[in-house]
Amino acid sequence: MKFLQISSFKHLLTHSRFLLTLRSDQGKYHSLILFRLSSAGDAIWDNAGSSSKDRAANRQIYVMESTCPHLGADMSHADIEEYEDTTVAVCPWHRYDFDLRTGKSETGLKACTYSVEVKTDPEDHDIEKVYVETPSGGNNWRLIELRPVSEEFADPPPKLSQIPVVNPPVVPITDPPTTLMQWAVLILQTANPTLKVLRTRHAVQLFRTGKLDSIGHKSSTAPRPPDVPPREESFLKNTVSPGKVKGRKSLAVMLHALANVEQWAWDIMARFGPSHPDLPPAFFSDFTKMALDESKHLCLAADVPPFCDVPATPYGSMPVHASLWESATITSHSLRSRLAIIHLVHEARGLDVNPGTIERFRRAGDAASVAAMEIIHADEVTHVTSGHRWFTWLCEKEGVEPVATFREEVRTGWRGNVKGPFNIDDREKAGLTPAFYEHLTGEMGEEEMEQKKGALEGLKALSLSDPVKPQVTVEYEDKI
Ligand code: FES
Repeated sequence: MKFLQISSFKHLLTHSRFLLTLRSDQGKYHSLILFRLSSAGDAIWDNAGSSSKDRAANRQIYVMESTCPHLGADMSHADIEEYEDTTVAVCPWHRYDFDLRTGKSETGLKACTYSVEVKTDPEDHDIEKVYVETPSGGNNWRLIELRPVSEEFADPPPKLSQIPVVNPPVVPITDPPTTLMQWAVLILQTANPTLKVLRTRHAVQLFRTGKLDSIGHKSSTAPRPPDVPPREESFLKNTVSPGKVKGRKSLAVMLHALANVEQWAWDIMARFGPSHPDLPPAFFSDFTKMALDESKHLCLAADVPPFCDVPATPYGSMPVHASLWESATITSHSLRSRLAIIHLVHEARGLDVNPGTIERFRRAGDAASVAAMEIIHADEVTHVTSGHRWFTWLCEKEGVEPVATFREEVRTGWRGNVKGPFNIDDREKAGLTPAFYEHLTGEMGEEEMEQKKGALEGLKALSLSDPVKPQVTVEYEDKI
Protein backbone atom coordinates (compact mmCIF):
# COMPACT_ATOMS: atom_id res chain seq x y z
CA MET A 1 0.00 0.00 0.00
CA LYS A 2 1.46 3.40 -1.01
CA PHE A 3 0.85 6.64 0.85
CA LEU A 4 0.99 10.26 -0.21
CA GLN A 5 1.77 13.13 2.15
CA ILE A 6 -1.04 15.64 1.89
CA SER A 7 -0.58 18.19 4.65
CA SER A 8 0.59 18.91 8.15
CA PHE A 9 -2.02 17.97 10.72
CA LYS A 10 -2.06 21.54 12.02
CA HIS A 11 -3.11 22.80 8.61
CA LEU A 12 -6.18 20.55 8.76
CA LEU A 13 -7.40 22.28 11.89
CA THR A 14 -8.67 25.25 9.85
CA HIS A 15 -11.67 23.29 8.49
CA SER A 16 -13.33 19.96 9.19
CA ARG A 17 -13.60 18.88 5.54
CA PHE A 18 -11.24 19.09 2.61
CA LEU A 19 -11.52 18.09 -1.02
CA LEU A 20 -8.39 16.43 -2.36
CA THR A 21 -7.67 16.20 -6.07
CA LEU A 22 -5.07 13.58 -7.01
CA ARG A 23 -3.56 13.00 -10.44
CA SER A 24 -1.37 10.11 -11.61
CA ASP A 25 1.45 10.22 -14.13
CA GLN A 26 -1.02 8.74 -16.61
CA GLY A 27 -3.32 11.76 -16.22
CA LYS A 28 -6.00 9.91 -14.20
CA TYR A 29 -7.86 11.97 -11.61
CA HIS A 30 -9.37 11.00 -8.28
CA SER A 31 -11.34 13.36 -6.06
CA LEU A 32 -11.39 12.42 -2.39
CA ILE A 33 -13.08 13.94 0.61
CA LEU A 34 -11.30 14.14 3.95
CA PHE A 35 -13.34 14.44 7.15
CA ARG A 36 -11.61 15.52 10.36
CA LEU A 37 -14.02 14.89 13.20
CA SER A 38 -11.82 15.78 16.17
CA SER A 39 -11.87 19.40 17.25
CA ALA A 40 -8.72 21.40 17.85
CA GLY A 41 -9.70 21.49 21.53
CA ASP A 42 -9.65 17.70 21.68
CA ALA A 43 -5.95 17.74 21.03
CA ILE A 44 -4.96 15.63 24.00
CA TRP A 45 -3.50 12.64 22.33
CA ASP A 46 -1.07 10.15 23.67
CA ASN A 47 1.51 9.80 20.95
CA ALA A 48 3.99 7.76 22.95
CA GLY A 49 4.31 4.39 21.33
CA SER A 50 1.21 4.81 19.20
CA SER A 51 1.32 3.78 15.57
CA SER A 52 0.73 6.17 12.71
CA LYS A 53 -2.65 4.49 12.11
CA ASP A 54 -3.63 4.91 15.76
CA ARG A 55 -2.76 8.58 15.59
CA ALA A 56 -4.99 9.01 12.54
CA ALA A 57 -7.78 7.18 14.40
CA ASN A 58 -7.30 9.36 17.50
CA ARG A 59 -7.55 12.46 15.39
CA GLN A 60 -10.57 10.96 13.64
CA ILE A 61 -9.42 11.59 10.10
CA TYR A 62 -11.26 9.66 7.40
CA VAL A 63 -10.90 9.78 3.65
CA MET A 64 -13.27 8.43 1.03
CA GLU A 65 -14.01 8.92 -2.67
CA SER A 66 -15.82 12.24 -3.01
CA THR A 67 -18.60 10.91 -5.24
CA CYS A 68 -21.33 8.68 -3.85
CA PRO A 69 -21.28 5.13 -5.27
CA HIS A 70 -25.06 5.22 -5.70
CA LEU A 71 -25.65 7.94 -8.29
CA GLY A 72 -22.58 10.08 -7.94
CA ALA A 73 -23.57 12.88 -5.53
CA ASP A 74 -20.81 15.08 -4.20
CA MET A 75 -20.16 13.79 -0.66
CA SER A 76 -18.50 17.01 0.52
CA HIS A 77 -21.79 18.12 2.07
CA ALA A 78 -22.71 14.73 3.53
CA ASP A 79 -24.10 14.67 7.05
CA ILE A 80 -21.92 12.88 9.59
CA GLU A 81 -23.91 10.77 12.03
CA GLU A 82 -23.14 8.34 14.82
CA TYR A 83 -24.85 5.06 14.12
CA GLU A 84 -24.62 2.31 16.75
CA ASP A 85 -20.86 1.87 17.16
CA THR A 86 -19.89 3.38 13.84
CA THR A 87 -19.74 6.82 12.28
CA VAL A 88 -21.34 7.21 8.90
CA ALA A 89 -21.38 9.80 6.12
CA VAL A 90 -24.95 10.26 4.91
CA CYS A 91 -25.21 11.15 1.22
CA PRO A 92 -27.17 14.39 0.70
CA TRP A 93 -29.08 13.06 -2.32
CA HIS A 94 -30.82 9.86 -1.20
CA ARG A 95 -29.62 9.55 2.38
CA TYR A 96 -27.65 6.32 1.94
CA ASP A 97 -25.12 6.07 4.74
CA PHE A 98 -21.56 4.84 4.44
CA ASP A 99 -19.29 3.72 7.25
CA LEU A 100 -16.38 6.14 7.31
CA ARG A 101 -13.90 3.35 8.08
CA THR A 102 -15.05 0.57 5.78
CA GLY A 103 -17.23 2.39 3.26
CA LYS A 104 -19.99 -0.20 3.80
CA SER A 105 -23.61 0.78 3.62
CA GLU A 106 -26.70 -1.08 4.79
CA THR A 107 -27.93 -0.83 1.22
CA GLY A 108 -25.18 -3.21 0.11
CA LEU A 109 -23.31 -0.49 -1.78
CA LYS A 110 -19.75 0.25 -0.73
CA ALA A 111 -17.93 3.56 -0.92
CA CYS A 112 -14.22 3.49 -1.60
CA THR A 113 -12.33 4.51 1.55
CA TYR A 114 -8.61 5.20 1.95
CA SER A 115 -6.31 4.51 4.88
CA VAL A 116 -4.83 7.47 6.71
CA GLU A 117 -1.64 7.71 8.75
CA VAL A 118 -0.25 10.51 10.89
CA LYS A 119 3.50 10.57 11.41
CA THR A 120 5.90 12.97 13.00
CA ASP A 121 8.66 14.19 10.73
CA PRO A 122 12.00 14.13 12.60
CA GLU A 123 13.60 16.17 9.83
CA ASP A 124 11.03 18.93 10.11
CA HIS A 125 10.81 19.83 13.83
CA ASP A 126 8.77 16.69 14.58
CA ILE A 127 5.77 18.23 12.86
CA GLU A 128 2.86 15.82 12.49
CA LYS A 129 2.09 15.09 8.86
CA VAL A 130 -0.92 13.38 7.36
CA TYR A 131 -0.57 10.67 4.72
CA VAL A 132 -3.33 9.15 2.61
CA GLU A 133 -3.28 5.82 0.77
CA THR A 134 -3.07 6.35 -2.99
CA PRO A 135 -5.70 4.93 -5.37
CA SER A 136 -5.02 1.60 -7.00
CA GLY A 137 -3.74 1.76 -10.58
CA GLY A 138 -1.67 4.63 -11.91
CA ASN A 139 1.80 5.69 -10.82
CA ASN A 140 3.19 8.61 -8.90
CA TRP A 141 -0.03 10.03 -7.58
CA ARG A 142 0.33 13.73 -6.79
CA LEU A 143 -1.78 16.05 -4.74
CA ILE A 144 -3.08 18.69 -7.14
CA GLU A 145 -5.41 20.49 -4.78
CA LEU A 146 -6.31 20.47 -1.10
CA ARG A 147 -9.36 22.71 -0.81
CA PRO A 148 -11.29 23.32 2.36
CA VAL A 149 -15.00 22.78 2.03
CA SER A 150 -16.62 25.98 3.14
CA GLU A 151 -19.68 25.82 5.30
CA GLU A 152 -20.65 29.14 3.71
CA PHE A 153 -20.64 27.72 0.16
CA ALA A 154 -18.23 30.39 -0.98
CA ASP A 155 -15.12 31.24 0.89
CA PRO A 156 -14.81 34.11 1.57
CA PRO A 157 -18.50 35.03 1.28
CA PRO A 158 -18.69 37.56 -1.57
CA LYS A 159 -20.15 40.99 -1.04
CA LEU A 160 -22.58 42.60 -3.39
CA SER A 161 -22.33 46.22 -2.36
CA GLN A 162 -20.98 47.55 -5.65
CA ILE A 163 -23.54 45.87 -7.82
CA PRO A 164 -27.05 47.31 -8.05
CA VAL A 165 -29.72 45.54 -6.06
CA VAL A 166 -32.62 43.90 -7.86
CA ASN A 167 -36.18 42.99 -7.05
CA PRO A 168 -37.21 39.75 -8.76
CA PRO A 169 -37.16 36.80 -6.40
CA VAL A 170 -34.23 34.40 -6.47
CA VAL A 171 -36.65 31.50 -6.92
CA PRO A 172 -39.29 32.38 -9.55
CA ILE A 173 -42.82 32.18 -8.19
CA THR A 174 -44.19 30.45 -11.26
CA ASP A 175 -42.52 27.31 -12.59
CA PRO A 176 -39.51 27.29 -10.27
CA PRO A 177 -36.68 25.12 -11.64
CA THR A 178 -36.52 21.60 -10.29
CA THR A 179 -33.41 20.29 -12.06
CA LEU A 180 -29.86 21.56 -12.40
CA MET A 181 -30.35 22.01 -16.15
CA GLN A 182 -33.40 24.20 -15.55
CA TRP A 183 -31.47 26.32 -13.05
CA ALA A 184 -28.55 26.64 -15.48
CA VAL A 185 -30.80 27.97 -18.22
CA LEU A 186 -32.65 30.29 -15.85
CA ILE A 187 -29.34 31.74 -14.65
CA LEU A 188 -28.11 32.19 -18.22
CA GLN A 189 -31.36 34.01 -18.99
CA THR A 190 -31.07 36.26 -15.94
CA ALA A 191 -29.93 39.66 -17.17
CA ASN A 192 -28.98 41.31 -13.90
CA PRO A 193 -25.56 40.30 -12.45
CA THR A 194 -26.68 40.55 -8.82
CA LEU A 195 -29.59 38.22 -9.43
CA LYS A 196 -27.29 35.91 -11.39
CA VAL A 197 -24.97 35.71 -8.38
CA LEU A 198 -27.81 35.08 -5.93
CA ARG A 199 -29.37 32.43 -8.15
CA THR A 200 -26.00 30.77 -8.66
CA ARG A 201 -25.43 30.50 -4.92
CA HIS A 202 -28.93 29.17 -4.37
CA ALA A 203 -28.84 26.61 -7.20
CA VAL A 204 -25.43 25.24 -6.19
CA GLN A 205 -26.58 24.88 -2.61
CA LEU A 206 -29.71 23.00 -3.74
CA PHE A 207 -27.57 20.74 -5.95
CA ARG A 208 -25.02 19.98 -3.26
CA THR A 209 -27.54 19.29 -0.57
CA GLY A 210 -29.71 17.01 -2.68
CA LYS A 211 -32.71 19.33 -2.90
CA LEU A 212 -33.10 19.10 -6.68
CA ASP A 213 -35.10 16.39 -8.43
CA SER A 214 -32.14 15.52 -10.65
CA ILE A 215 -29.40 16.98 -12.81
CA GLY A 216 -31.82 16.65 -15.70
CA HIS A 217 -29.31 16.32 -18.54
CA LYS A 218 -30.67 12.92 -19.60
CA SER A 219 -34.19 14.25 -19.99
CA SER A 220 -35.54 14.75 -23.51
CA THR A 221 -37.20 17.93 -22.27
CA ALA A 222 -34.04 19.57 -20.93
CA PRO A 223 -34.26 23.29 -21.78
CA ARG A 224 -31.93 24.87 -24.34
CA PRO A 225 -29.55 27.62 -23.23
CA PRO A 226 -29.86 30.99 -24.97
CA ASP A 227 -27.41 31.66 -27.82
CA VAL A 228 -26.77 35.10 -26.38
CA PRO A 229 -27.57 35.50 -22.70
CA PRO A 230 -29.53 38.73 -22.20
CA ARG A 231 -28.18 41.71 -20.32
CA GLU A 232 -29.84 44.75 -18.88
CA GLU A 233 -29.31 47.85 -20.95
CA SER A 234 -27.04 49.40 -18.34
CA PHE A 235 -24.70 46.41 -18.57
CA LEU A 236 -24.85 46.20 -22.32
CA LYS A 237 -23.36 49.56 -23.16
CA ASN A 238 -20.29 50.84 -21.42
CA THR A 239 -20.80 54.24 -19.89
CA VAL A 240 -17.19 55.35 -20.04
CA SER A 241 -15.95 56.73 -23.32
CA PRO A 242 -13.40 54.35 -24.85
CA GLY A 243 -11.37 57.46 -25.63
CA LYS A 244 -11.04 58.18 -21.94
CA VAL A 245 -9.81 54.71 -21.20
CA LYS A 246 -7.44 54.49 -24.13
CA GLY A 247 -3.82 54.50 -23.10
CA ARG A 248 -4.71 54.50 -19.45
CA LYS A 249 -3.42 51.37 -17.83
CA SER A 250 -5.52 51.99 -14.80
CA LEU A 251 -6.01 49.40 -12.12
CA ALA A 252 -9.72 50.14 -12.21
CA VAL A 253 -9.85 49.02 -15.82
CA MET A 254 -8.00 45.82 -14.94
CA LEU A 255 -10.38 45.05 -12.12
CA HIS A 256 -13.29 45.77 -14.37
CA ALA A 257 -12.03 43.27 -16.90
CA LEU A 258 -11.64 40.73 -14.14
CA ALA A 259 -15.14 41.35 -12.86
CA ASN A 260 -16.38 40.61 -16.34
CA VAL A 261 -15.80 36.89 -15.99
CA GLU A 262 -18.65 35.25 -17.79
CA GLN A 263 -20.93 32.36 -17.09
CA TRP A 264 -19.26 29.66 -19.12
CA ALA A 265 -19.59 27.10 -16.38
CA TRP A 266 -23.40 27.30 -16.56
CA ASP A 267 -23.27 27.39 -20.33
CA ILE A 268 -21.08 24.29 -20.67
CA MET A 269 -23.45 22.33 -18.40
CA ALA A 270 -26.64 23.48 -20.12
CA ARG A 271 -25.30 23.33 -23.68
CA PHE A 272 -23.47 20.03 -23.60
CA GLY A 273 -25.16 18.09 -20.77
CA PRO A 274 -28.17 16.99 -22.87
CA SER A 275 -26.00 16.04 -25.87
CA HIS A 276 -23.67 14.00 -23.60
CA PRO A 277 -25.98 11.98 -21.34
CA ASP A 278 -23.01 9.84 -20.28
CA LEU A 279 -21.40 12.77 -18.46
CA PRO A 280 -21.13 11.65 -14.82
CA PRO A 281 -22.31 13.72 -11.82
CA ALA A 282 -18.67 14.58 -11.04
CA PHE A 283 -18.63 16.72 -14.20
CA PHE A 284 -21.53 18.76 -12.82
CA SER A 285 -19.91 18.93 -9.38
CA ASP A 286 -16.76 20.42 -10.95
CA PHE A 287 -18.62 22.94 -13.09
CA THR A 288 -21.08 24.04 -10.40
CA LYS A 289 -18.03 24.74 -8.26
CA MET A 290 -16.65 26.77 -11.16
CA ALA A 291 -19.96 28.65 -11.54
CA LEU A 292 -19.84 29.55 -7.86
CA ASP A 293 -16.24 30.72 -8.27
CA GLU A 294 -17.18 32.88 -11.25
CA SER A 295 -19.87 34.63 -9.25
CA LYS A 296 -17.45 35.02 -6.35
CA HIS A 297 -14.85 36.57 -8.66
CA LEU A 298 -17.33 39.11 -9.97
CA CYS A 299 -18.14 40.18 -6.43
CA LEU A 300 -14.51 40.23 -5.35
CA ALA A 301 -13.30 42.25 -8.31
CA ALA A 302 -16.23 44.64 -8.23
CA ASP A 303 -15.97 45.23 -4.51
CA VAL A 304 -12.36 46.12 -3.90
CA PRO A 305 -10.63 49.47 -4.35
CA PRO A 306 -10.17 51.35 -6.59
CA PHE A 307 -13.82 50.59 -7.43
CA CYS A 308 -14.82 51.61 -3.94
CA ASP A 309 -12.76 54.75 -4.23
CA VAL A 310 -14.01 55.56 -7.71
CA PRO A 311 -17.77 55.41 -7.48
CA ALA A 312 -18.07 56.82 -10.99
CA THR A 313 -16.84 53.53 -12.47
CA PRO A 314 -19.26 50.91 -11.22
CA TYR A 315 -19.48 47.50 -12.82
CA GLY A 316 -20.84 47.86 -16.32
CA SER A 317 -19.45 51.32 -16.93
CA MET A 318 -16.14 50.46 -18.55
CA PRO A 319 -15.25 48.75 -21.80
CA VAL A 320 -14.63 45.05 -21.63
CA HIS A 321 -13.27 42.78 -24.27
CA ALA A 322 -15.44 40.21 -26.00
CA SER A 323 -12.90 37.54 -26.90
CA LEU A 324 -14.32 35.02 -24.43
CA TRP A 325 -17.74 35.51 -25.95
CA GLU A 326 -16.35 34.94 -29.40
CA SER A 327 -14.53 31.78 -28.39
CA ALA A 328 -17.54 30.42 -26.51
CA THR A 329 -19.70 30.96 -29.58
CA ILE A 330 -17.19 29.42 -31.93
CA THR A 331 -17.01 26.32 -29.73
CA SER A 332 -20.76 25.94 -29.19
CA HIS A 333 -20.85 22.92 -31.49
CA SER A 334 -18.39 20.72 -29.60
CA LEU A 335 -17.71 19.94 -25.94
CA ARG A 336 -14.16 18.94 -26.78
CA SER A 337 -13.52 22.19 -28.57
CA ARG A 338 -15.13 24.22 -25.74
CA LEU A 339 -12.95 22.56 -23.10
CA ALA A 340 -9.83 23.07 -25.21
CA ILE A 341 -10.36 26.70 -26.20
CA ILE A 342 -12.11 28.24 -23.19
CA HIS A 343 -10.54 26.27 -20.36
CA LEU A 344 -7.15 25.22 -21.70
CA VAL A 345 -6.31 28.27 -23.81
CA HIS A 346 -8.17 31.29 -22.37
CA GLU A 347 -8.18 30.26 -18.72
CA ALA A 348 -4.65 28.91 -18.94
CA ARG A 349 -3.60 32.31 -20.30
CA GLY A 350 -5.03 33.78 -17.11
CA LEU A 351 -2.54 31.69 -15.16
CA ASP A 352 0.28 33.31 -17.16
CA VAL A 353 -0.80 36.92 -16.68
CA ASN A 354 -2.28 36.92 -13.18
CA PRO A 355 1.04 36.95 -11.29
CA GLY A 356 2.10 40.09 -13.19
CA THR A 357 -1.25 41.74 -12.44
CA ILE A 358 -0.94 40.87 -8.76
CA GLU A 359 2.53 42.41 -8.75
CA ARG A 360 1.21 45.63 -10.24
CA PHE A 361 -1.42 45.91 -7.52
CA ARG A 362 1.21 45.12 -4.92
CA ARG A 363 3.50 47.86 -6.23
CA ALA A 364 0.56 50.27 -6.14
CA GLY A 365 0.10 49.40 -2.44
CA ASP A 366 -3.38 48.04 -3.11
CA ALA A 367 -3.53 45.20 -0.58
CA ALA A 368 -7.26 44.57 -1.03
CA SER A 369 -6.86 43.97 -4.76
CA VAL A 370 -3.84 41.74 -4.16
CA ALA A 371 -5.88 39.64 -1.73
CA ALA A 372 -8.79 39.37 -4.20
CA MET A 373 -6.50 38.52 -7.09
CA GLU A 374 -4.70 35.83 -5.14
CA ILE A 375 -8.02 34.10 -4.43
CA ILE A 376 -9.02 34.42 -8.07
CA HIS A 377 -5.70 33.05 -9.28
CA ALA A 378 -5.82 30.01 -6.97
CA ASP A 379 -9.36 29.28 -8.20
CA GLU A 380 -8.29 29.63 -11.83
CA VAL A 381 -5.69 26.90 -11.40
CA THR A 382 -8.53 24.57 -10.38
CA HIS A 383 -10.61 25.67 -13.38
CA VAL A 384 -7.83 24.75 -15.79
CA THR A 385 -7.45 21.48 -13.87
CA SER A 386 -11.15 20.75 -14.44
CA GLY A 387 -10.74 21.61 -18.11
CA HIS A 388 -7.82 19.18 -18.37
CA ARG A 389 -9.64 16.50 -16.38
CA TRP A 390 -12.74 16.49 -18.60
CA PHE A 391 -10.83 17.02 -21.82
CA THR A 392 -8.73 13.91 -21.11
CA TRP A 393 -11.87 12.02 -19.96
CA LEU A 394 -13.52 12.81 -23.28
CA CYS A 395 -10.42 11.86 -25.26
CA GLU A 396 -10.28 8.52 -23.48
CA LYS A 397 -13.92 7.84 -24.27
CA GLU A 398 -13.38 8.75 -27.89
CA GLY A 399 -10.15 6.74 -28.09
CA VAL A 400 -7.93 9.66 -29.08
CA GLU A 401 -4.65 10.92 -27.65
CA PRO A 402 -5.13 14.12 -25.55
CA VAL A 403 -2.06 16.18 -26.52
CA ALA A 404 -2.37 15.70 -30.29
CA THR A 405 -6.15 16.19 -30.07
CA PHE A 406 -5.78 19.41 -28.09
CA ARG A 407 -3.29 20.79 -30.60
CA GLU A 408 -5.65 19.98 -33.44
CA GLU A 409 -8.57 21.67 -31.65
CA VAL A 410 -6.46 24.80 -31.23
CA ARG A 411 -5.25 24.69 -34.83
CA THR A 412 -8.82 24.70 -36.12
CA GLY A 413 -10.55 26.75 -33.41
CA TRP A 414 -8.09 29.56 -32.62
CA ARG A 415 -6.47 32.40 -34.49
CA GLY A 416 -2.80 33.23 -34.08
CA ASN A 417 -0.09 32.03 -31.73
CA VAL A 418 -0.81 30.66 -28.28
CA LYS A 419 1.19 33.34 -26.57
CA GLY A 420 3.76 33.09 -23.80
CA PRO A 421 5.59 33.71 -21.64
CA PHE A 422 4.02 30.75 -19.90
CA ASN A 423 3.53 30.15 -16.20
CA ILE A 424 4.99 26.66 -16.54
CA ASP A 425 4.56 25.73 -12.87
CA ASP A 426 0.88 26.59 -12.55
CA ARG A 427 0.09 25.14 -15.97
CA GLU A 428 1.80 21.93 -14.94
CA LYS A 429 -0.18 21.86 -11.67
CA ALA A 430 -3.31 22.00 -13.79
CA GLY A 431 -2.12 19.10 -15.97
CA LEU A 432 -0.86 21.14 -18.93
CA THR A 433 2.65 20.04 -19.77
CA PRO A 434 4.59 22.11 -22.36
CA ALA A 435 3.81 19.44 -24.99
CA PHE A 436 0.24 20.76 -24.97
CA TYR A 437 0.96 24.40 -25.70
CA GLU A 438 4.51 25.09 -26.88
CA HIS A 439 4.97 26.29 -30.49
CA LEU A 440 1.24 26.18 -31.11
CA THR A 441 -0.60 28.34 -33.62
CA GLY A 442 -4.29 28.57 -34.45
CA GLU A 443 -5.04 28.62 -38.14
CA MET A 444 -8.74 29.40 -38.14
CA GLY A 445 -9.48 31.86 -40.94
CA GLU A 446 -11.66 34.96 -40.70
CA GLU A 447 -14.39 33.44 -42.86
CA GLU A 448 -14.44 30.21 -40.89
CA MET A 449 -14.63 32.17 -37.65
CA GLU A 450 -17.58 34.21 -38.90
CA GLN A 451 -19.34 31.04 -39.99
CA LYS A 452 -18.88 29.48 -36.58
CA LYS A 453 -20.08 32.60 -34.86
CA GLY A 454 -23.25 32.43 -36.90
CA ALA A 455 -25.90 34.97 -36.17
CA LEU A 456 -24.51 36.16 -32.88
CA GLU A 457 -25.31 39.83 -33.29
CA GLY A 458 -25.20 40.45 -29.57
CA LEU A 459 -21.43 40.24 -29.59
CA LYS A 460 -21.21 43.60 -31.27
CA ALA A 461 -22.70 45.33 -28.27
CA LEU A 462 -19.79 44.11 -26.16
CA SER A 463 -16.96 44.74 -28.54
CA LEU A 464 -14.33 47.27 -27.62
CA SER A 465 -14.01 48.21 -31.26
CA ASP A 466 -17.56 49.53 -31.29
CA PRO A 467 -17.56 53.11 -30.10
CA VAL A 468 -20.40 53.68 -27.66
CA LYS A 469 -21.65 56.99 -26.49
CA PRO A 470 -20.83 57.72 -22.89
CA GLN A 471 -24.05 57.95 -20.90
CA VAL A 472 -22.49 59.62 -17.89
CA THR A 473 -19.50 61.83 -17.48
CA VAL A 474 -16.71 60.06 -15.71
CA GLU A 475 -13.74 61.75 -14.14
CA TYR A 476 -10.63 59.68 -13.55
CA GLU A 477 -8.08 60.34 -10.91
CA ASP A 478 -4.89 61.30 -12.70
CA LYS A 479 -2.77 58.75 -10.94
CA ILE A 480 -4.70 55.57 -10.57
S1 FES B 1 -27.46 8.00 -2.11
FE1 FES B 1 -25.85 9.11 -2.93
S2 FES B 1 -26.42 9.54 -4.93
FE2 FES B 1 -28.05 8.39 -4.14
